[in-house]
Amino acid sequence: MTLAALRTYSRVIGTGSALPGNAVSNDELARDLATRGVETSDQWIVERTGIRQRYIAAPGSTTADLGVRAAQAALQAAGRSGKDIDLIIVATSTPDQIFPSTACLIQAQLGANGSTAFDVQAVCSGFVYGLVIADAMIRSGTNARALVIGAELFSRILDWSDRGTCVLFGDGAGAVVLEASSEPGILASELKADGSHAGVLCTAGRVSQGKVEGHPYLTMDGPAVFKLAVNVLGASAIKVLQQAGLEVSQLDWLIPHQANVRILNAIAKRVGVPEEKMVATVDRHGNTSAASVPLALDVAVRDGRIKSGQHVMLQGVGGGFTWGSALLRW
Ligand code: ACO
Repeated sequence: MTLAALRTYSRVIGTGSALPGNAVSNDELARDLATRGVETSDQWIVERTGIRQRYIAAPGSTTADLGVRAAQAALQAAGRSGKDIDLIIVATSTPDQIFPSTACLIQAQLGANGSTAFDVQAVCSGFVYGLVIADAMIRSGTNARALVIGAELFSRILDWSDRGTCVLFGDGAGAVVLEASSEPGILASELKADGSHAGVLCTAGRVSQGKVEGHPYLTMDGPAVFKLAVNVLGASAIKVLQQAGLEVSQLDWLIPHQANVRILNAIAKRVGVPEEKMVATVDRHGNTSAASVPLALDVAVRDGRIKSGQHVMLQGVGGGFTWGSALLRW
């Protein structure tokens, strides 16, 4: 049967991820920050966030390099090659260039020339946005097999003198291969944004006339982001489960954006999902923005937690303010 005949749904057929260089522990980070006169500690970071380490890319490495590595791992897991792909969507807020898109840079390295390729900018919600867009394009028949990639070098936009933000984030990439299928796949989803909260989490700088204008580092109102994230993702999970006609008890895995373990636990409580059914990798990756959900998904697929036929909810939330959920039957 041809893929065209199968275009009722889309399914994930492979996952992959990539992390740069070596992990930087909280103690190592605290020692480095102390040399800049910034005081923090492993105890503060673990108690407030659950983060124990993050990965920081070396100077000269690129978002596209990380994205390519994650995509290659996903293609290998799926038993496909770059030539099989006709759609590449990259979610990133740290593109290598203003243009061309990181998706085009990745496409060239994967040998997927001729495919549709573009970036999605929805900050930490970007991967879920990209997945839902790819699902819609496959179901509409315009494309048959997609790579959806979340890739970030957030270390490049951190203000290392701001201890309220620089301890939270890390670099990384995750990817999935999504293919047309007669079986679902993605069961239900929602994508949302509320631009009235644009100021609570932003990197407000821009390039103009050869200069950077505005503040080129990430700024955040931590407590406001905390409350918004728990409220919107709690409500979104329940709505998307209802859309699919599923009870909360039928959800096998909840994978929210990996921002902070306290946020993850609060979302699980709000939705009524036991913490054992939540995948949490923020302790080892930090917050990798658009890469956090596919990184956590890949870990749980590869360690055998996520099994065929199970229900998995992916959730993104972040700057914009943006958020979204996608419910998958694995
Ligand atoms: N080390 C030591 N002390 C610190 C640090 C640090 N790294 N950062 C802040 N502090 C201090 C503050 O200066 C403050 O000191 P003070 O009381 O003397 O003024 C104290 O710790 C408490 O600061 P708060 O900001 O009130 O701490 P809070 O408990 O709210 O935790 C945090 C801060 C972790 C940022 C929390 O608000 C949070 O998790 N917010 C969610 C934000 C988030 O996760 N964002 C990620 C990006 S958003 C996204 O991905 C959706």
